[in-house]
Amino acid sequence: MKQPSTRMATFRIKRYNPEIKPEAYYEDFQLDIPDGATLLDCINLIKWTQDGTLTYRMSCRSAICGSCGMKANGHAQLACQRQAISLLDKDDTITIEPLGNMEPVKDLVVDFEPFWDKINKIKPYLQTEDSSPQKERTQAPEQFRLIDDAITCIMCGNCYSDCNVLEVDDKFLGPAALAKAQRFVSDSRDHKTLERVTALSEPGGIWDCTHCGECVERCPKPAQPFYRIKEIMSVALEQGVHNNIGARHALSFVKSVKSSGRLNENMIPVESMGYFNFKGLMDLIPIGLRMLLKRKIPPIIHKSIDDVKDVKRIFKELDQ
Ligand code: FES
Repeated sequence: MKQPSTRMATFRIKRYNPEIKPEAYYEDFQLDIPDGATLLDCINLIKWTQDGTLTYRMSCRSAICGSCGMKANGHAQLACQRQAISLLDKDDTITIEPLGNMEPVKDLVVDFEPFWDKINKIKPYLQTEDSSPQKERTQAPEQFRLIDDAITCIMCGNCYSDCNVLEVDDKFLGPAALAKAQRFVSDSRDHKTLERVTALSEPGGIWDCTHCGECVERCPKPAQPFYRIKEIMSVALEQGVHNNIGARHALSFVKSVKSSGRLNENMIPVESMGYFNFKGLMDLIPIGLRMLLKRKIPPIIHKSIDDVKDVKRIFKELDQ
């Protein structure tokens, strides 16, 4: 009979217990990874057989509850969804740390309060005309399809942990809250679409996303926040919510490509700021001067690409 195989590995775990030691530190545990074990299985074994004080969250062990998010080798993942063996580096080591962009409380447990505050900010509930309906509100399958990716979110915080914008701007709503917002923006039963996209176009909202796509990489479900953020952007533009730098930037980008097949990098900053946003335009002057000194100024005369008629045809077909 085939014996189950194991593989000896080092689990380098970031420990933190401010009641005992103010600074975090790394502690190594040796463990034979049992055949087929997930990262969570291994952490459980370490806790049960080596150090009962190791602290982390877990519940379902089935990638459903979203409790066991943690960083392994620098990236957020669900510990119960990941085969431990797939995480071994060349030294047979796995480095485990708490989720990022949230304050550690103890070992791998982080404070989710800012995360939930942002979820609450987007009003995560249906806002309908009729607050006491006499029958259930139904949706056609094609209406439901607009929100069925967003509703798969399990609020694990993996996207929030690895979001590059949140690292430098904690006012950003973050990918999880924005994916949740799309679920209501695009819900055919909700009657606050314009109000929602207007609020989501404020600083800290959709237009502060830098399109890095990290949240898509980290999302363990089809929720894939970046694509949901793009959907809100489209709705905001369709609803005429243009009076902000992000929307003007997107529109200027499209206008430039549509007319010449390439970006007019002299006009895009000006159009993004807005012709009557004098303060914003003045703020651009030092950047422009620095570009001039470094000879980074794009050509003043903006030329079209040779095949611009093909670009125009693509836009025309898209419009139709
Ligand atoms: Fe529930 Fe991992 S324990 S998602």
